[in-house]
Amino acid sequence: MAAKRKTLNDAFYETLKDVFYAEKQSVRALKKSAKSAANDELKQAFETHAEESAHQVERLQQVFEIIGKPARSKTCEAMQGLTAEMEEDLEDFGDSPAADAVLIGCAQAVEHYEIARYGTLKTWAMQLGLEDAAKLLDETLQEEKRTDELLTQIAERANAEGDEGEGEEDEEGEDQPKSKGRGKGKEDADDEGEDQPKSKGRGKGKAG
Ligand SMILES: [Fe+2]
Repeated sequence: MAAKRKTLNDAFYETLKDVFYAEKQSVRALKKSAKSAANDELKQAFETHAEESAHQVERLQQVFEIIGKPARSKTCEAMQGLTAEMEEDLEDFGDSPAADAVLIGCAQAVEHYEIARYGTLKTWAMQLGLEDAAKLLDETLQEEKRTDELLTQIAERANAEGDEGEGEEDEEGEDQPKSKGRGKGKEDADDEGEDQPKSKGRGKGKAG
């Protein structure tokens, strides 16, 4: 007996489970980001989108109802990876002047993932004749897009303001007796040497 062939309905359900997991995880990430953000506007944006995302989770539950399947989560490794990177970035940049910029970058990576997923789900819902589901998915899709745009605007404003003197370079101070494993040299951190003017040129077109 041949195994049952999978259909677009199956793909829709599997992806829905993935996004259900991802969305719940993004609510947590957004709350954490709201706490970590220094800029008030950014903090507010994260809080607002955390609330929106809680509604998005409810919308997904409605979509599960529409297709008559239990609302289950399936581990989304992509979202796990994105949030793990966010944790790492927070550790690395948490106290730095770049902290907010880094947070925005992480949040936009999450938004773009969600935009991709909701876009796909919406298309499939339409192809499967699930108009109500498509409508719900589109509402969320638009919220994600708006959030992404808002984050871009905040980043642009913040970077414009943030050009003031932030040139602290006092990290060199302590000699930590780290075992300087040779041979690995992944990051040559001793930037003593002269910058050789390679053709790489900084200042990537700061288009105005
Ligand atoms: Fe979302």
